[in-house]
Amino acid sequence: MSHETASAHGALPPSSSPAASARRARRLYHAYSIESLRDIAQRTLPRAVFDFYDGGAEDESTLKANRAAFARHAILPRFLVDVSRIDTTMNLLGKPVSMPLAVAPTGAIGYGWPFGDVAIARAAGAAGLPYALPTSSTSSIERVAREAPHTRLWFQSYMLRKRDFTMGLIQRARDADYEALIITIDMPTGGKRERDMRNDFGLPFRFSARNVLDFASRPGWVARLARSGMPVLENMLGFVPDTLHTSTIASSVGKNYDPAFNWDDLARIREVWPRRMLVKGVLHPDDAARVADLGCDGLVVSNHGGRQLDGAPAALDALPAIVQAVSGRLDILVDGGVRRGADIVKALALGAQAVMVGRPLLYGVSAGGEAGAARALFLLREELLRTMRLSGIASIGDIGPHVLAPFAAR
Ligand SMILES: Cc1cc2nc3c(=O)[nH]c(=O)nc-3n(C[C@H](O)[C@H](O)[C@H](O)COP(=O)(O)O)c2cc1C
Repeated sequence: MSHETASAHGALPPSSSPAASARRARRLYHAYSIESLRDIAQRTLPRAVFDFYDGGAEDESTLKANRAAFARHAILPRFLVDVSRIDTTMNLLGKPVSMPLAVAPTGAIGYGWPFGDVAIARAAGAAGLPYALPTSSTSSIERVAREAPHTRLWFQSYMLRKRDFTMGLIQRARDADYEALIITIDMPTGGKRERDMRNDFGLPFRFSARNVLDFASRPGWVARLARSGMPVLENMLGFVPDTLHTSTIASSVGKNYDPAFNWDDLARIREVWPRRMLVKGVLHPDDAARVADLGCDGLVVSNHGGRQLDGAPAALDALPAIVQAVSGRLDILVDGGVRRGADIVKALALGAQAVMVGRPLLYGVSAGGEAGAARALFLLREELLRTMRLSGIASIGDIGPHVLAPFAAR
């Protein structure tokens, strides 16, 4: 069975007029922050697609809390330290990275940019960073391995109700030499994402009067899609959904995932996957301890970017207790709301080994394909370097709790 779409043309950017490409390059050059990439993405994408990327669950209180948590911490700078050379390198899962960051798995990237998964994977590889490909990617496991051959690739899997299909995906990632497997545990069902409901956005995509009008408002985006074809979730080709089980009122995301998935199942996956394994979506310190007991190599403290349980704590706020429970036993990553280089310093000061970023790359790739994804990573790295220099921190190993101001407002 083929795991790829016939119309696929790989990582090559869809051809567009030289004038359009030049305009895009100029816009990216003048994007000075992740927020400005977000602005470009908002102007480029139909509302339904932008909202799918940007939004969270229900009142979006956890989504907002993720950002607010970073704002509650301050960095207390030290001066007259030699910061002429800054070293941002470190080891993540035992291998060097250019900075303490990995790209988080985000599904349906192809709606932002044709085969955007490949574009982000290539940008990550060029920046010396790992990329996590999700189950619900729009480029197959094999395509990304083939077209981003210099990138450290991790594969993220959910447990689908059709367990054989899931185990087949994991085997494919193994055959394609993916370095690590991430099992995401925070989706026993989909979060209630009301923006998607309002916009008639679902996966697989279905046309409705409302979203056709919305699409028509973004002719550049429509032209790109017309050239490359409607994105499909390539890993899921051949997957026959179990129609007996549709989700309760929620977005379409999550309806095929198995709510019976439990610790014994996770232990079995650990037994059959021979390489590095991480568990993503951990918020409770006791769950973190169980992940460590299973012999996993890492965990990601995450509330899925505020897209699952609205009311869950900000990821950064959940981090310290998890660090206390398992620090030193496995690598601890945290994601949710990282938008600035200073946020990386704060996460590390609270005990994480690294951060993951999701939306910053979605905004970047939607704003300008691989160059836009590269711009997002460039901005985060440049800000990290500048923050370290302004704070008197010469290397990643020098970051600890002492760099945070004890009197920061809470
Ligand atoms: C559009 C979108 C799709 C996502 N898809 C997945 C997914 O398929 N698997 C997964 O484990 N996490 C998924 N996530 C969550 C991210 O991996 C990550 O936890 C989150 O985006 C981090 O927050 P940030 O976007 O504020 O950086 C998705 C997030 C977004 C925004």
